[in-house]
Amino acid sequence: MENINWGELPFGYFKTDYNVRCYFRNGVWGEIETSSSEYINIHMAATTLHYGQECFEGMKVFRGKDGKIRVFRWEENAKRMQRSCEGVMMAPPPVDLFKAMMIKVIKLNEKFIPPPGMGASLYLRPLTIGSGPQVGVKPASEYLFMIFAGPVGPYFKEGFSPVDVQIVRDYDRCAPQGTGHIKVGGNYAASLKPAARAKQEGFSTVLFVDSKENKYIDEAGPANFFGIKGKIYVTPNSKTVLPSITNMSLRTLAEDMGLKIELRAVLVEELADFDEVGACGTAAVISPIKKIVDRESGKEYTYCCNGNAGPVSTKLYNTLKGIQEGEIEDKYGWNTIID
Ligand code: PLP
Ligand code: COI
Repeated sequence: MENINWGELPFGYFKTDYNVRCYFRNGVWGEIETSSSEYINIHMAATTLHYGQECFEGMKVFRGKDGKIRVFRWEENAKRMQRSCEGVMMAPPPVDLFKAMMIKVIKLNEKFIPPPGMGASLYLRPLTIGSGPQVGVKPASEYLFMIFAGPVGPYFKEGFSPVDVQIVRDYDRCAPQGTGHIKVGGNYAASLKPAARAKQEGFSTVLFVDSKENKYIDEAGPANFFGIKGKIYVTPNSKTVLPSITNMSLRTLAEDMGLKIELRAVLVEELADFDEVGACGTAAVISPIKKIVDRESGKEYTYCCNGNAGPVSTKLYNTLKGIQEGEIEDKYGWNTIID
């Protein structure tokens, strides 16, 4: 294993030994290639550079105390990448190809999988880009699917400590009938300005409202939003929210804990009624929220009155993390063991 300060890792880029690549040319996917270069040599007219033919995924690999290496629900990422590709007219990598490349990149970078108990994991970043040239606005005829990997720590420096978020109404991350439901680069480009402003103004991230009526909660920055009201787990069912694999898993766990699940439109005003609120996603798992400020009206919603995450969020977080790390029985069959 590498000599790395595993406990101090940020959520960021970390150079590892290898990445894996595969090209789609003349209508077929080619051989899997292994590369130790951090660079891609692409045509200057590649559609990814001009017309945003790009999508990506994010998943985590854990080393358990039992020494086993686990990947969490990768098939869901593979299927979502196919939907993202179809959404911007790229060739979708087959699930079997995704699996073979994922296993290869994990094995090639095995020494970078953090030891257990460090709050760290090996993050996999699959991406597909239009690599073929085009000057007219048309899909490319060549695509590159690749996966790189690197050890990461918590997404927000606070880890599981509660964060402050800011409601923005003067920027949208996507259009009402746009690409919010798929993981394409343009959504993230559109979120950079409001997110940078929110950081400057002292917040960890933004809470986007729906871009049509500006009154429903949409995404919590690069994560889904959820709220707990008594024995109910509420999360937006908006068409412009990315179907989060973490959120889907939390709903299963919440249901098993006896909570009722409400997947529905959530009015901003309802923030006043929640006992606990949080953002959820692969990178953060759960980021409990302690304060939400509406930038336009100045209205504030506060939670975590004792400074800590609420009991339901804490139980959900510990259970999901416990399953991912092999500490709690994986009764849903979410983990794939890499051997
Ligand atoms: N929403 C957005 C915009 C995201 O980028 C992500 C991260 O992938 C999520 C939600 C959470 O999705 P998942 O739990 O599948 O990582
Ligand atoms: C997530 O994994 O929750 C993310 O949103 C990843 C982010 C870096 C795009």
